[in-house]
Amino acid sequence: MKLAIIGTGYVGLITGACFAEFGYQTVCIDKDEIRVNDLNNSKCPFYEPGIDNLLHKHLHKTKLLSFSSSLSQSVNDADIIFITVGTPTKRIENEADLSYVWNAAEEISNNINKYCIVVTKSTVPVGTTREIKNIISKKINEKNFDVVSNPEFLREGSAINDFMRPDRVIIGCENKKSEDIMKELYRPLYLIETPIISTTIESSEVIKYASNSFLATKISFINQVADLCEKVGADVQDVAKGMGIDKRIGNKFLHAGPGYGGSCFPKDVKAFISTAEKNDINFSILTAADKFNEERIIKITNNIISKANLAKGSQVSLLGLSFKPNTDDIRDSTSLKIAKLLQNKGITIKSYDPEAMDNAKKENIELILCSNAYEACEDTKVIIIGTEWNEFRALDFLKIKSANRNRVIFDLRNIYNAKELRDIGFQYFGTGT
Ligand code: UDX
Repeated sequence: MKLAIIGTGYVGLITGACFAEFGYQTVCIDKDEIRVNDLNNSKCPFYEPGIDNLLHKHLHKTKLLSFSSSLSQSVNDADIIFITVGTPTKRIENEADLSYVWNAAEEISNNINKYCIVVTKSTVPVGTTREIKNIISKKINEKNFDVVSNPEFLREGSAINDFMRPDRVIIGCENKKSEDIMKELYRPLYLIETPIISTTIESSEVIKYASNSFLATKISFINQVADLCEKVGADVQDVAKGMGIDKRIGNKFLHAGPGYGGSCFPKDVKAFISTAEKNDINFSILTAADKFNEERIIKITNNIISKANLAKGSQVSLLGLSFKPNTDDIRDSTSLKIAKLLQNKGITIKSYDPEAMDNAKKENIELILCSNAYEACEDTKVIIIGTEWNEFRALDFLKIKSANRNRVIFDLRNIYNAKELRDIGFQYFGTGT
């Protein structure tokens, strides 16, 4: 089976490298020739644990993987073509911008010359895959191709593991022929008994948005419970533990914090809301979760300013700039949103992040970038732990205390024990504790 992957972002690159690991001849295509050149030299454009090894192995050893900027040369002998281009939010109407998807469909229709399957793996609103079929069928007879929806559930920082050991594979198709070919493609996962769920195209597209929206809502839910816990003297970590043991609730995505960020949840939630609005559906649960999440950053920042008595000219420490650990991705990072709000108040930010500082420099936020956490914690009015990197989980607070006479810490991710830090003289504020 020969595969072509259009788009080499987080989804396309991981998908291509992992399909090569399954043993398939795979070409990944991108219009960005510099990016293609870097990738052909095993240079990954973003930090993702394990991707460098996979790229090197399949570019140079198995030679199953290659990168090209020419779609025409790459798709004409492919058996399955994956569309993995970006679907960013149109900032005005909240809906997904599908221009890259339509362009890919158009280019595919100009270049396929044998039966193949065109797969939407990008997160696309319900109805998109059928529209791709309409675009391609303007030039290609419908007998000579099929379309399939096959959404991904990859988390940044654990994307390779999520691909190799998924909870499930979702295949949205319209006939047995394409279903059988997709099941054959994922046979390596079948051997580890991964559930492969076949459904309609529309159901598959909705599963993706509904899954991300549910997880985002679960996060907003536990964050609202955290706010209540702070008022009534409860500990949200114990509450989450007591809730999560119930298998119907589950203990994942119940960690209270500054809210959800990243390149997926915020945009997918807004796109799903947009789809509901277009279909006159009341999705008030999701709009409430989204609105609460947006407002949470302002509430948390104002809380830090008032409790730490910050004023224009104050200096703070911010540990963690990426939207989550084990990634250099800063898109919709809650840490950077807090930094921006503090900067707008004339507050200086000393920060450190193990991977994301190069990306943070590109943002128009004044950050003093330090070489390690201890340097960032020196001589500031408050220390804010914004991202729960493992590197921040066992800091030497006696060492920090000797270089920081204010000793105020906001542990937004609850990675420390309040009593331990208070016992050594810190004023400790957690989230929901
Ligand atoms: C998410 C989905 O998990 C994944 O299935 C989908 O394919 C892409 O979007 P990702 O955005 O990489 O993955 O990160 P994830 O680990 O889901 O975290 C998303 C946001 O939620 C982060 O800002 C994280 O800090 C926050 N989060 C996550 C919490 O605040 N609490 C939690 O318990 C879990």
